[in-house]
Amino acid sequence: MTVGILVPAIVLSETFLTKITATSSDFNIIEAIVANIQHAFTHDKLTSRQLVDFYLDRVKTFNPLLQSLLEANPDARDQADEDDKQREVPFRGGRSVGQVHDFPMLLKDNIATNDKLNTTARSYALLGSKVPRDAGMVKRLRTAGVVIFGKASLTEW
Ligand SMILES: *[C@@H]1O[C@H](CO)[C@@H](O)[C@H](O)[C@H]1NC(C)=O
Repeated sequence: MTVGILVPAIVLSETFLTKITATSSDFNIIEAIVANIQHAFTHDKLTSRQLVDFYLDRVKTFNPLLQSLLEANPDARDQADEDDKQREVPFRGGRSVGQVHDFPMLLKDNIATNDKLNTTARSYALLGSKVPRDAGMVKRLRTAGVVIFGKASLTEW
């Protein structure tokens, strides 16, 4: 089984982009790589919540065509808000926040998350089933401050 984490593609959204670029002349969310986004976070040009809202906006626009997101996490906005609060206290327990802190990530639908998201490996037989716990990697991602954005379809099917 292939295990993968996908950072959602960052694409243009005119309404949201205008909001973000209005506060920054040197940050372009369309061209941004992880390091640029991390820089924008630490220099108060972008919040995790803004990034999650941006992605949700993109999902609304493109997912009907692309069908790559199976489910968006209904708690993603709250997780992002929580991460934004934690960013204000950068040294938790003597550790600085990591590179992926505040980042929304998609998980393939065969990676168990013990939250509101279904884990089905895209099989109707597993719809509504409850996993006993987060997969080990999910536990580590949550500890690292990653926002679990949703479940993505599997390339295997
Ligand atoms: C999980 O699947 C159930 C059954 O189809 C659905 O009602 C629910 O909205 C799904 N959860 C999410 C977070 O989409």
